[in-house]
Amino acid sequence: MGSDLEKVLVSEAQIATRLDELAAQIDADYAGRELLLVGVLKGAVMVMADLSRRLHTDLKMDWMAVSSYGSGTKSSGVVRILKDLDTDLLDKHVLIVEDIIDSGLTLSWLVSNLRSRNPASLEIATLLRKPDAAKVDVDVRYIGFEVPNEFVVGYGLDYDERYRNLPFVGTLAPHVYQG
Ligand code: XMP
Ligand code: MG
Repeated sequence: MGSDLEKVLVSEAQIATRLDELAAQIDADYAGRELLLVGVLKGAVMVMADLSRRLHTDLKMDWMAVSSYGSGTKSSGVVRILKDLDTDLLDKHVLIVEDIIDSGLTLSWLVSNLRSRNPASLEIATLLRKPDAAKVDVDVRYIGFEVPNEFVVGYGLDYDERYRNLPFVGTLAPHVYQG
């Protein structure tokens, strides 16, 4: 897997199994309702594609692009909308689909932003969650995996736009980002 990667944290098979479980749970929870999946670009592309294909619930998809990270590995704490939703959220059942929750700053900003648009319900699904996310008071209903406080790449997650296409989640060797 190349010298830039240290180890595999979550394998392709583990991701597939966990997405099966989460999809079954989401289908049960949203039975009889129309669901709007809101994917957060660009990291959530893989989880959105693979999770949505497992769902039988009547659903629509929309995308939002926000920025809280530059090309480095630390949160700036500043969230900007780069691309807003095309959909009016009023009275919709909305499920935010995220790749990873780290400090939770992005998500807590996103939740209050979307909540102000008066959806019927608003929940969160994330593939990965890091320990610091516990410090922020945001309920995350669907979590794929808890990961340690290391910089991870793959399955949508990038370092400087690279590694998004890896089918697994792995840690980056420190020499890559420490220069
Ligand atoms: P916060 O700290 O606001 O971060 O919860 C959310 C966004 O930061 C990115 N992020 C990462 N991206 N590897 C990545 O490739 C990581 O380990 C990592 N941690 C945070 C990600 O875009 C996420 O939505
Ligand atoms: Mg990123």
